[in-house]
Amino acid sequence: MKKFYITTPIYYVNSEPHIGSAYTTIIGDIIARYKRLTGYDVFYLTGTDEHGQKILQAAKEKGKDPQLLCDELSEKFKKLWEDLNITNDYFIRTTDPNHMKTVQLFVSKMLENGDIYKGIYKGWYCVPCETYWNEEEIEIDENEKQVCPSCGRPLNFVEEENYFFRLSKYTEPLLNHFKNNPDFVEPEFRKNEMLKILESGLKDLSITRTTFNWGILMPNDPKHVIYVWVDALINYISAIGYERDEETFNKWWPADVHLIGKEINRFHSIIWPAMLMSVGLPLPKKIFAHGWLTVNGQKISKSLGNAIDPREFVKKYGNDVIRYYLTRDIVFGKDGDFSEENLVQRLNSDLANDYGNLLHRTVAMVVKNFDSIIPKPEEILETDKILIEHFENLLNKYYAYMDSFKLTYALEEIWSYIGNINKYFDENKPWILAKEGNKKRLATVLYNTLEAILRVATLLMPFMPDSSNEVYKRLSQNVKPSEVFEKKWNVLKSGQKVTHGKPLFNKIDLSKFEKIAVKKEKQDLQKQNTEEGVVLISFDEFKKIDLRVAEILEAEKIKKSEKLIKLLIDLGELGKRQIVAGIAKYYNPNELIGKKIVIVANLKPAKLMGVESQGMLLAAKINDKLTLLTVDNDIEPGAKIS
Ligand code: MSP
Repeated sequence: MKKFYITTPIYYVNSEPHIGSAYTTIIGDIIARYKRLTGYDVFYLTGTDEHGQKILQAAKEKGKDPQLLCDELSEKFKKLWEDLNITNDYFIRTTDPNHMKTVQLFVSKMLENGDIYKGIYKGWYCVPCETYWNEEEIEIDENEKQVCPSCGRPLNFVEEENYFFRLSKYTEPLLNHFKNNPDFVEPEFRKNEMLKILESGLKDLSITRTTFNWGILMPNDPKHVIYVWVDALINYISAIGYERDEETFNKWWPADVHLIGKEINRFHSIIWPAMLMSVGLPLPKKIFAHGWLTVNGQKISKSLGNAIDPREFVKKYGNDVIRYYLTRDIVFGKDGDFSEENLVQRLNSDLANDYGNLLHRTVAMVVKNFDSIIPKPEEILETDKILIEHFENLLNKYYAYMDSFKLTYALEEIWSYIGNINKYFDENKPWILAKEGNKKRLATVLYNTLEAILRVATLLMPFMPDSSNEVYKRLSQNVKPSEVFEKKWNVLKSGQKVTHGKPLFNKIDLSKFEKIAVKKEKQDLQKQNTEEGVVLISFDEFKKIDLRVAEILEAEKIKKSEKLIKLLIDLGELGKRQIVAGIAKYYNPNELIGKKIVIVANLKPAKLMGVESQGMLLAAKINDKLTLLTVDNDIEPGAKIS
């Protein structure tokens, strides 16, 4: 039997799952179900990542024992996957004793191979991302703080004796692997990002820490805990019995695809393959890095209060609707925005109108004209043939798109076919055939429409299992879905009773529509305000800030910085000054010259990347957009703003 091993990343248990974490798992589930449906023996793995500083910090903040926190949160992830109808075959936890032993064994092999050595690590570390950064990679924010180039949060400086993995040794072998396996990392633009990193040469990687002990101990030196990413990546082989159960391991490894989010691509496409090369194991066949979900245009974050709980959505709209929306509206591979309005739009138009209503009206006619019994089709006309042909075309495209994880395109094609079925139904006017008493033709039209619906429900099985099963039930069909793929038209059994139940999908009345996300966001923001304390300032305090209009005289980019521009500004009575601003991503130096901007003129001077800044300009920023504050009418530089 053909086999397919698919994994999700394992989720950090520092906080509750949100729609972003559910996204990867739902997509993985759709692919796993599709593979099963098309005859594969599938192993679908997910789990939780429970060691490291990030989890330890979360436990400390909550005043909880870390193991207890992991036990509680890991249960929540498990429960959510059950609620979301996820068909994972195993759930791994990195605190499982088996996993912990496997990690030590794996690292021992790397030690034996001479791929690990002791050295001094001096550099930056981002706890939320659990990532080391070199001096050249870090960014400096407006307050002169070193921040993570990936998440923008403050970095810690680390200097300690660590064990290092000779990652540099694998630059060439990895480049060769990428060359010989052009589909190793997808989408293509993500592969190119990895190639760039490889082409600039890899540095050895620190793989142990000594300043905390929430992790797996280094087998030869228990003062050190193993770097959480090394620990986590090994989950993909420890879950299938590496060095414990040879048969199972050999059956599943190498994985067919590791599904991941874009920000953890380097770990999966570079570090993990190098680790596998080090111990002589084959590499996964593919890494697929998807984009990020924002919520109503904002990055999902607990502190913004928009970390929506997928359970609320499931409760309100049902599982299938969420699964459909996430795959249909967010092009798999790219970033996308989760918006409840768009979800409702999809629900009302695609699901309730196009699909649900088609089933509803066809079944209603069978009930009325054939005593609820599916009739036998009679002579086939050209229009019937076209409907059948269209399905064959659809099936070919469906396979191609599903096999290349172009899930959104697969759904688009299915919906275009649903459009064809609706057109077929309307053009054949079964209500007129009924009126005229043309039972033979009526039987054929209703039969073909139901056959087409059954086929659509089958293609949709991986995406929307509940409603697809419901269609099978309402048409009393007990054919195995996989057979529908294999058999020619006329799979639908005539003589079976249909049930005209409730609508397949409940439309939302837009005039009464209340959003979950907004309500929650507001509540959370209020909570956050009282928890973190919004600071109200007095007018006197505001008056302390000397805001002035300044004219930009010169502007140039600061070398070695992606963000910073050095400006020479004219402040009228206050003279000329130099300021440094983090706006290089949004403005070219040339377009700045001559602009009248607003600056804080009495800010203590500070150095940014070694360049002195004697003030700070004001700009409005939202998401990825930034615009400078300017004045409405012309006014002399140095004018006071009050
Ligand atoms: N523990 C590591 C993964 C180790 S795998 C050996 C980790 N965990 S995570 O919980 O932070 O993220 C897990 C997955 O959830 C990542 O693939 C990440 O991209 C995904 N998502 C988290 N937030 C997301 C969005 N807002 N949108 C889409 N996916 C996002 O990284």
